[in-house]
Amino acid sequence: MSDLIQVDHDKPVRDKPHFADSELTEAQFIHLLGEDMVPIQQFFTYYQCAIMEIETKFKVLNAQFSLRGEKNPIEFIQSRIKSYGSIMRKVHKTGIPCRLDAIEDELDDIAGIRVVCSFREDIYRLADCFLQQDDITLIERKDYIEHPKPNGYRSLHLIVSVPIFLENEKRPVKAELQLRTLAMDFWASVEHKLRYKKDLPRKTLALLYRDLKDCAEESAAWDEKMQRIRNMLE
Ligand code: GTP
Ligand code: MG
Repeated sequence: MSDLIQVDHDKPVRDKPHFADSELTEAQFIHLLGEDMVPIQQFFTYYQCAIMEIETKFKVLNAQFSLRGEKNPIEFIQSRIKSYGSIMRKVHKTGIPCRLDAIEDELDDIAGIRVVCSFREDIYRLADCFLQQDDITLIERKDYIEHPKPNGYRSLHLIVSVPIFLENEKRPVKAELQLRTLAMDFWASVEHKLRYKKDLPRKTLALLYRDLKDCAEESAAWDEKMQRIRNMLE
């Protein structure tokens, strides 16, 4: 079980000249918000705790499914806290006030958890079991598997609120969950890399995006076939 969880909480800090593509240090982030270090660290700890709560819920479901004689449905879980730079870019893009309370209210994806399964039906089974738990509040559900994005992106996205229990307080914290198959994850990681290839000629990029769209269709058909095979084996 130990390799089930891969946590990538803080991306490495890089030094780049332009704010728009740079990562910020903690000190720069604190400076931009005009806050003290303690409330900022507390703010991120809440999201870290929410990630721990949600990861545990999925690990428990994974163990329970395997008790029923089924193979563990989850291949791996990846979690991350949004980097300081990403938070600030979103603050600028959306025009929300540059304050911790506004960031907490408006940004749903500071805590991100990605659950990757082999089979498509397991995604829906896990999501249903998770959402049935009485401490989970569903804020938004986007089914990009039933309704893929125009570029071919597929995943089930859930924005949820989960309570974390502190010394004298029960605090609701929001998190973004992405549930996908291995094939969807492979596709998304390749497409993500392409986003940073801005130096390629437009024509080449257009061709690559067309190929990627084809790959998305083919891998969706593959997921469907694998599901059919699995159903026959059960
Ligand atoms: P954001 O401002 O990106 O949060 O937009 P949104 O709130 O409409 O969120 P959406 O549910 O569309 O996407 C949130 C996250 O899903 C992104 O940050 C990515 O991790 C992932 N995602 C969404 N669309 C794509 C896509 O086309 N390609 C890849 N690789 N990932 C995507
Ligand atoms: Mg979002």
